Amino acid sequence: MTRVGIIGAGKIGGSLLIRLSEADGFELGASDVHQEYLAPYAERYGVWITASSRELAEHSDLLIMAVKPWDVGTVLEEVASALEGTEKAVTSVAAGVPISAISEKLPEGTPVLRVMPNVCASVGLGSAVVTSNEPGRAMLPMVMEIFRTVGDVMELPERLFDAATALHGSGPAYVALFADALIQAGVREGIPRDVAKRLVIGTIGGTAVLLEERSAHQVRDEVMTPGGTTAAAFVAMEKAGFVGAIYDGVNAAAEQARGLGR
Ligand SMILES: NC(=O)c1ccc[n+]([C@@H]2O[C@H](COP(=O)([O-])OP(=O)(O)OC[C@H]3O[C@@H](n4cnc5c(N)ncnc54)[C@H](OP(=O)(O)O)[C@@H]3O)[C@@H](O)[C@H]2O)c1
Repeated sequence: MTRVGIIGAGKIGGSLLIRLSEADGFELGASDVHQEYLAPYAERYGVWITASSRELAEHSDLLIMAVKPWDVGTVLEEVASALEGTEKAVTSVAAGVPISAISEKLPEGTPVLRVMPNVCASVGLGSAVVTSNEPGRAMLPMVMEIFRTVGDVMELPERLFDAATALHGSGPAYVALFADALIQAGVREGIPRDVAKRLVIGTIGGTAVLLEERSAHQVRDEVMTPGGTTAAAFVAMEKAGFVGAIYDGVNAAAEQARGLGR
């Protein structure tokens, strides 16, 4: 049994606790500054809970830090001494915080891994990338197994993590923004809101399945009859800078992530 301690029972930490509690081979613990967030995980999922991250570190083989980037330093100060002279590993899901910044606050040689998940983990359809420092390489398969309980996982070099943060970490928010705009557009054309919502959710879900087996260009060409309605929409959307806005948005998010690491 690997003892996994999750620090921060919020959106990402909470999703991991729920899914991991159904998987074999893990003994789960959790800490959070809010005791009231922890209690349901103990009651419903049998998670061992504590207000002290240090105590959690003492009781865990692998720690997963699921706190906001600006709280990572505090957590590391709390847990560092519990890692002294052990083989315990630390995984961070924080945006923009590099492995080097984590390692320098921990005993030399501590295995450190970094994962960038997304909020779709809460429905088991997350996407995540993972990397590690040299001592953490042996832990990669286990950390990938852990994040596979909440979705798809791939290895990615750390130099691309800020880009990935901007792409799929923030990605669900972009898709939600697009969905909302599409629903509003349908309402503007006179479609009742509940019908528009159902049509848009179905369209996004169905397109995601199509994109598993075809390229984006193929899907576009199948829908776009020459001289037809979709072609008219594309001209109007392009004139309004639709694709350029997406490039700029992802670039701005990547720059923001790089800023967090400085
Ligand atoms: N949410 C996403 O879509 C997403 C996607 C990709 C990556 N991430 C990364 O995942 C990390 C967690 O994000 P999240 O959205 O899950 O955050 P969240 O919902 O705010 O959860 C974090 C939890 O940790 C608690 N906390 C703060 N400091 C703590 C400490 N010293 N010890 C123990 N618990 C502490 C927080 O309390 P307070 O609320 O009082 O601070 C909160 O309950 C972030 O670093 C983020 O960059 C998030």
